[in-house]
Amino acid sequence: MTAAPATGTATARDGQRRALVVGATGIAGSALVEKLTAEGWPVLALSRTPGAERDGVRRLSADLTSAESLAAVLAPENPTHVFFTAWSRRDTEEENISVNAGMLRDLLAALRGKDVAHVALMTGLKHYLGPFEAYAAGEMADTPFHEEEPRLPVPNFYYAQEDELFAAAAEQGFTWSVHRSHTVIGHAVGNAMNMGLTLAAQATLCRESGEPFVFPGSETQWNGLTDMTDAGLLAEHMLWASTTPAAADEAFNIVNGDVFRWRWMWPRLAAYFGVEWEGYAGAPRPLEQAMAGREDQWAELAQRHGLAEPRLDRVASWWHTDSDLGRDIEVVTDMGKSRDAGFTGYRRTSDAFLSLFDRYRADNLIP
Ligand SMILES: NC(=O)c1ccc[n+]([C@@H]2O[C@H](COP(=O)([O-])OP(=O)(O)OC[C@H]3O[C@@H](n4cnc5c(N)ncnc54)[C@H](OP(=O)(O)O)[C@@H]3O)[C@@H](O)[C@H]2O)c1
Repeated sequence: MTAAPATGTATARDGQRRALVVGATGIAGSALVEKLTAEGWPVLALSRTPGAERDGVRRLSADLTSAESLAAVLAPENPTHVFFTAWSRRDTEEENISVNAGMLRDLLAALRGKDVAHVALMTGLKHYLGPFEAYAAGEMADTPFHEEEPRLPVPNFYYAQEDELFAAAAEQGFTWSVHRSHTVIGHAVGNAMNMGLTLAAQATLCRESGEPFVFPGSETQWNGLTDMTDAGLLAEHMLWASTTPAAADEAFNIVNGDVFRWRWMWPRLAAYFGVEWEGYAGAPRPLEQAMAGREDQWAELAQRHGLAEPRLDRVASWWHTDSDLGRDIEVVTDMGKSRDAGFTGYRRTSDAFLSLFDRYRADNLIP
């Protein structure tokens, strides 16, 4: 007779729970590290560049694109709960699939034979919207998005990562969860997609040069309903699913639980920064063009205000905010499945933005 598979509530043979956060310096991973340490978990935090020292956290430096590097770094470790929030942005979806599914596959292979009870994978709404190459372009499910929608008939690195997760779970006997997030509001510097810091940089540059804070996106985004995901709430959700039997082996959407219209939100963000604003006025005005060539302006104001990061390209991800706010469809997300399974976490999105800006100010990343 074979042993019953471990469940997400299982502990290691020594009775301890140990977390491994993969992508620990990212916008989602760093919130997980904070949440897990606050809950008293010992945390292994994996990325290439080590993050800041923190009590209860051991930093592991490994390259997920190198199976040898992973095997060597993880050989002496024995995590029970794995939180996968890493990704590597590539030029084509074919490359995204090969690299990002490969990183997850090699990570899970390096953990084979250890006490892993649960693996939580973060993905996103591109599961429903399609990959960057075919973003919000083809036929897609009606909004609000529900978890049971069939996959779109186009290759997508999230699908490839899910398939790696399902295969390893079946082979190794751990439980899994998938967390489909909308745009994340969270704390990171130098990462690929960070709308909060991008809008803070835009507002700061505009205020300094006496220009209005212009909404860059589409008419649909300005007027339609939308939602977002606070990184702290996402961390709560991933921890909840990892330790709740009713949530094992399921995919869940994760958003804040409120909806808003950008035409309501934008003046509130402008008021925080004390800058005049303009809404949608006949056509999108993408940040990639409007904010081009501002590197020296940022470096100069960073020096004047004594800011921690003088490089604008490590603060703003214009391309990502343009693509999110430029969508021509309304994007809202259903949370019913999580609520039915017992997750009742909630954030007010306007508060999530403003408290994030307070934090970036306290860290001297914006004046
Ligand atoms: N950000 C959003 O708004 C958002 C919204 C919805 C869904 N998502 C999805 O969520 C997932 C995570 O994205 P994120 O935005 O949280 O990521 P992120 O902030 O860009 O962080 C990525 C993390 O992965 C690490 N990493 C990247 N390449 C690595 C490598 N080769 N070896 C080891 N570590 C590596 C990075 O650290 P180092 O560079 O130091 O190694 C960093 O810690 C992605 O699938 C993304 O599509 C993101």
